[in-house]
Amino acid sequence: MVTAGDTVAADVLVDGETVAAIGRSLDVTADRIVDASSRYVMPGGIDAHTHLDMPFGGTFSADDFESGTAAAAWGGTTTVVDFAIQDFGESLQAGYERWLAKAAGRAHVDYGFHMIIREVTDQTLTDMDALVRQGVTSFKLFMAYPGVFMLDDASIFRAMQRTSDNGGLIMMHAENGGAIDVLVQRYLREGRTDPVNHALTRPASMEGEATHRAIALARLAGVAVYIVHLSSRDALTAVVEARDRGAPAYAETCPQYLFLSQDDLARPDFEGAKYVCSPPLRPRDHQDDLWKGLVQDDLQIVSTDHCPFDYKDQKVLGRADFSKIPNGLPGIEDRYTVLFDGGVNAGRITLNRFVELVATAPARMFGLYPRKGTIAPGSDADIVIFNPAVERVLSASTHHMRVDYNCFEGMRVRGLPEVVMQRGEVLVEDGRFLGRPGQGGFLPRSAFPS
Ligand code: URP
Ligand code: ZN
Ligand code: ZN
Repeated sequence: MVTAGDTVAADVLVDGETVAAIGRSLDVTADRIVDASSRYVMPGGIDAHTHLDMPFGGTFSADDFESGTAAAAWGGTTTVVDFAIQDFGESLQAGYERWLAKAAGRAHVDYGFHMIIREVTDQTLTDMDALVRQGVTSFKLFMAYPGVFMLDDASIFRAMQRTSDNGGLIMMHAENGGAIDVLVQRYLREGRTDPVNHALTRPASMEGEATHRAIALARLAGVAVYIVHLSSRDALTAVVEARDRGAPAYAETCPQYLFLSQDDLARPDFEGAKYVCSPPLRPRDHQDDLWKGLVQDDLQIVSTDHCPFDYKDQKVLGRADFSKIPNGLPGIEDRYTVLFDGGVNAGRITLNRFVELVATAPARMFGLYPRKGTIAPGSDADIVIFNPAVERVLSASTHHMRVDYNCFEGMRVRGLPEVVMQRGEVLVEDGRFLGRPGQGGFLPRSAFPS
């Protein structure tokens, strides 16, 4: 059994929905015994960054709460924290309730919500307090996508100040949207419309600048800040410098930034569109820095930013104009295994650090620990029995995400979540899916520790 702290040979006793006991050769009579010999017994993954059924660029992400959470379970993830979105002119409460309705009765795994704030008014600030009281304790703000999501510095600062009172945590999409937009318009005027231009118009320096600014604003407000989907050395440097000065700056990266690169965006015949996400994939040499960040805990979490769009009828919206390609990649099913294979098997991180990155740290960061994110008496019995010996090839032909391509297509990996259990109920076993929609419930989360 592996947790963030220990690797022990032990039996795990599950009683109802929770773990009852852990010990060597437990002397109990169980209704059922699952033989996990030669396997790792690890906490179910927590994917703290997903976009299920999300409107973007005139279309919706291809996985909804039913298909996306089933794919999550197939891949060893038993909790997701998705993003509810405030519409313009709408209260945060109304946006949150719309997402509650999207998930209700459909999710296979437990879920919580972060709230995306699109405009900051006096009412928004009051709404933030109310959401924290309901267990929606983190708020995503954007420094990019002008006219769609981008907030100015004053709005960002006001929202940050509010979290110092209400216990919320600001999550920042840190890219300088103003400068990027100017570049995008120039490239389009010059006829540079292919997918690779998505990366060329969103340089790493502009992620570094926004990350630095976000942290500076958070320091001024006296609060912590969490940088989402950090993709580049430039942004990581801003986080490291702040942390070295003792600032509570946190960040996640995603598998696509660890395993894919700008070369994928440059694939010919519009195939690069499959790899369009923001921030964009970076030149390959950024990857070593991200791995170092994961080892040294300057990056605390690996989330997916799962936001799938079909290649054939959605990514194609940007065939003549890269800025119209819906942004986002699929990954909810593959995160656990690609990080195990590329991290643990490749000798980059320890088994315990792996568990910390995919389960324990997200639980702690987002107010779910110790109910989620570990295997301990009293914790939810969200358990993965992982077979590290199974060799397989990732492919859209075998995955369960409702999207027509896999961005890790053809990747050879060693490891399979063989048995996946949520709150004591088996969701995946013997290559069969045993879960049912509605089995996952809403998780109110605790406030961020001050
Ligand atoms: O390209 C991305 N990341 N799409 C999802 C929206 C976001 O910014 O996280
Ligand atoms: Zn974002
Ligand atoms: Zn996202």
